[in-house]
Formats: sequence, structure tokens, C-alpha cells
Amino acid sequence: MKAKIIRIDREQIDKEALREAGEILKRGGLVAFPTETVYGLGGNAMDPEAAKKIYAAKGRPSDNPLIVHIADMESLKVLTPEVPEKAAKLAAACWPGPLTMIFKKTDAVPYETTGGLDSVAVRMPSHPIALELIRAAGGFVAAPSANTSGRPSPTCAEHVKEDLSERIDMIVDGGSVGIGLESTIVDFTEEVPTILRPGYLNRERLSEILGEVRIDPGIMSEDSKVRPKAPGMRYRHYAPKAQLIVVEGSTDRVVDKINELASKLQKEGGMAGIICTDETIGRYGSFIKKSIGRRTDEEGIARHLYGILRDFDKEEVQVIYSEAFDTPQMGQAIMNRLLKAAGHMCIEV
Ligand code: TXA
Ligand code: MG
Repeated sequence: MKAKIIRIDREQIDKEALREAGEILKRGGLVAFPTETVYGLGGNAMDPEAAKKIYAAKGRPSDNPLIVHIADMESLKVLTPEVPEKAAKLAAACWPGPLTMIFKKTDAVPYETTGGLDSVAVRMPSHPIALELIRAAGGFVAAPSANTSGRPSPTCAEHVKEDLSERIDMIVDGGSVGIGLESTIVDFTEEVPTILRPGYLNRERLSEILGEVRIDPGIMSEDSKVRPKAPGMRYRHYAPKAQLIVVEGSTDRVVDKINELASKLQKEGGMAGIICTDETIGRYGSFIKKSIGRRTDEEGIARHLYGILRDFDKEEVQVIYSEAFDTPQMGQAIMNRLLKAAGHMCIEV
């Protein structure tokens, strides 16, 4: 099988083409599609066989539950017996958008979709192509990120093609995504709403709407005994081919330290890669450097992170040194993904 690729303009959606994609999903096939966060690998969420196909295509452990994507609030009632008041408030403020909520599930949701859990993750994305596709598919699309398990999430159709083109029926190419990091996950099965995965919507924003919000202690911890509640956050998500080391501290010190470590590596016969910014790229020696964008443009940093990590897998470097990106709004989400890719190898200077 080789995936059929259809190109859709988000400003002028070809509904006929998406109807074909929707038919594939209704028949139990797999279609990758853009959302505002990352590309998703869609299958019919109510069809256990489709869920199994998703796990197989990604090479993903089947105890790692999928997010069910919906296009309207009516659909939520099919998935969960009760929507807590706070969740309804959050939905009103942030859906459609880069937010996933966890609820108690109804019997309508197959255990194959929820990885055997009695809860279900639900998201209403804001990307117009995603919304149109969900409607065309009958309303319930299970979609993990459209990467092979263990690779960075895809932020453009090319990434999906690299990983999955031989294993799925169709790729809807809607261009590059806007955010570039996966949705914020908030668990409403707990007494206090709890962030299971940081994303574009941060704790401050959620607290404005909900009041008290907790952060799952498992998500930023280096201690493997503190297990994250979201099964997918327990896996070492993405290990670049090269070893990744994050260097954190004031800019001058970070630049000095990375130059020092990279020179040392090259003197020993190795090749060093550097993830830096437009402001600092001119301050490094002759190593393989890639700028993630301007340091002040945190949305750009988030959008470019996974693509840069993928690019480095094509280079012959043994170690990648990355500056840290503790930016004001999305810093926690960016550093969560970067530190996971680094297996928490971080040097403070
Ligand atoms: O932005 C996103 O959320 C993207 C796009 C495609 O919507 N999707 C995505 O899916 O990132 P995935 O499968 O790569 O990540 C889903 C995460 C996993 O960490 C999974 O363990 C967690 O959500 N999850 C799903 N259902 C859950 C549940 N019932 N309880 C706890 N965690 C759950
Ligand atoms: Mg994923």
C-alpha cells in the first residue's frame, strides 16, 4: 500500500476530496490529516479494528490510549456520561483548540481506543481541514500524532510521508501546522483538574478559567519512579540518533560552554551539532548549526523544534548540544519535549 496524498487549501477547502477521505475512515481505513498542533493519524474511534490498525501502523504499544477528535459539543455526550461543570467552562473557552480533556467513558467507546482504560481523551481541534474531515467521517476520529512511535511528531505532510506512507491509506496535506507541539491534556477524572501534558495552553491560562489546576508531578520529573499518569508520557518519546544534551543558563555562558564541549568532541574526532537561535548562531565555531528562530519568537521555537530534531537525524553528528528555551508562555511545553528527547541530559552553567 502506498498512501494517496491529497493537497487541500485550508482557505478554500475541497469538500469533495475530504468526503473521499471521510469514506475511507468510515470503511475502517487510516487517513493522516493536519490539526493546529501536529498531524494526526486518523481512524474511526468507534471501530475497534480501526484502533488496532492505528497501533500497528505506528508501532505503538496498545496500552497507550488514543485521543478521540470531535467537531461539535453534541458528540461529547456520546463519549462521556457526565461533563463536569469546570470542563464545560474550559470547553467553552478553549474549544475548538489545542486542548484535550480526559473524562469517564461511556460503553460506546471501545477499549481498543482507550488502551483498556475506563476514561477517554477528547479534543475538538480548530483546524478547518480537521473539522471538515471529522464531520465527513461521521463525527469521531481517533488520532494519535502521525509519526512512527519513537520519532518526533510530524509538523508537515512530508514528515508523515517519511514515517507512514507505506502503511496508511491517505495523507491529507494541508501545509505546515501552526503550533508544532501536541495539545495540552487536562484530566477531569481527578478531584482537581490536572495537567497531564503541557502545551500551548499553559497552567496560568487554565487557572484563569478553572481556578486551582494541578500539574501531574510525573511529567517534568527525571525520576523514573514518579510515573506520569498519561501512558504516552512514560515512554522515552523520541531519542535522536545522536545524543542530545541541553545546556541551560545565561546566554553568554551557554554559548561558551557549547563551544567548549563541541570543540572538545571534534578534537577527539567526533562531529558536533548545535541547536541555537538567530541571535547566537554567529557566535559558534564551525560545527553543524541549526537555528530554531529568534529567541523572542517563542511560537516559532515551538513550531520548529520537531522539524530540527528530524533534520539532525539526517546529519552525521554524534552529539547535539541545544540551548535551553525557557520562554515565558510555552517554555514548559518546549522544555518538556526537549528534555525528554535528551533523556534529561541537561548541563547547567
Ligand atoms: O495535539 C494532539 O493532541 C495530537 C493531535 C493529532 O490531536 N495528538 C496526540 O496524540 O498528540 P498522541 O496519541 O500522540 O498523544 C496522546 C496522549 C498520550 O500521551 C496518551 O497516553 C494520553 O494522551 N492519553 C490518551 N487517553 C488518555 C487517558 N484516557 N488517560 C490518560 N492519558 C491519556
Ligand atoms: Mg504522539
